[in-house]
Amino acid sequence: MNINWYPGHMKKTKESIKKNLSLVDIVYEIIDARIPYSSQNPDINNIVGEKPRLIVLNKSDLADQKANTIWQNYFKESGLHSVLVDCINNRGLDDVIQLTYSLTEKKRLALGAKGIKNRPVRAMIIGIPNVGKSTFINSLSKRKGAKVGNKPGVTKTNQWIKIKGNLELLDTPGILWPKFDDKNVGLNLAFTGAIKDELLDIETLTIKLVDRLNSISDKLIERRYNITVGDKSPYEIILEIGKKRGCIIKGGEVDFIKACNIILDEFRKGIIGRITLELPDQIK
Ligand code: G4P
Repeated sequence: MNINWYPGHMKKTKESIKKNLSLVDIVYEIIDARIPYSSQNPDINNIVGEKPRLIVLNKSDLADQKANTIWQNYFKESGLHSVLVDCINNRGLDDVIQLTYSLTEKKRLALGAKGIKNRPVRAMIIGIPNVGKSTFINSLSKRKGAKVGNKPGVTKTNQWIKIKGNLELLDTPGILWPKFDDKNVGLNLAFTGAIKDELLDIETLTIKLVDRLNSISDKLIERRYNITVGDKSPYEIILEIGKKRGCIIKGGEVDFIKACNIILDEFRKGIIGRITLELPDQIK
């Protein structure tokens, strides 16, 4: 993700996000619905504090539908509001707006009592890189904006983007760091493409992905690639997929890296299926 987080850097980011938080009525915390735990910042509760927060389970189109409900229930039990969003097909955005009004009602009533009426409700977005923050801003505002970029912290001059109704969004998201010290989290981020293939080489990453997919259900690989998984190793499975897909180099050998790239790419695009990689009872 091309961000090197240093302790000083993290402190500065936190401070600048906290400063921006004082300007808004609600925070949208964007996470990836396929890896809700792994895509959450470890210090999120402390950073957001008492500010109303709406958890946006983004990329819900790529995640398992049953798992989506399980995660929503989990957050509800933790006293947090969440919403399923698919920014590509503009699903869930009306729910975001509706929940924003209900979560900020107390504040709006308090302002109304002071004679301040119709002040726009202000929101800001936070989340780790690649969870879809820029896409979410663009979808909510229906603009075809440029990518905000993965510069940590909030550096640009703030601007407010008008959203449906009486809602305004800070145009610059707060970019947070992921959990560093959990190997499984790193793997989940690498599988989904949040960490750009730099954690592990493609071959090892794909072997681990195939292993993970088979541990969820061997039907996932079987259905997509029309092969029998049985007790084959991930390595053998990738070779077989490579053969089937015509990934052959001179001498008739399988182009293993090409086969790996196909599998990784199809997983990330949801072509292997709608797959959630972690459930609440599997996290620490
Ligand atoms: P960021 O600002 O949080 O860093 O994320 P960004 O919006 O750039 O989105 C990262 C990738 O996720 C983009 O793919 C984007 O299209 C995709 N994305 C965002 N929201 C959704 C969603 O709801 N569903 C699906 N299926 N995809 C979503 P990309 O352009 O291919 O970028 P990259 O993966 O090559 O970085």
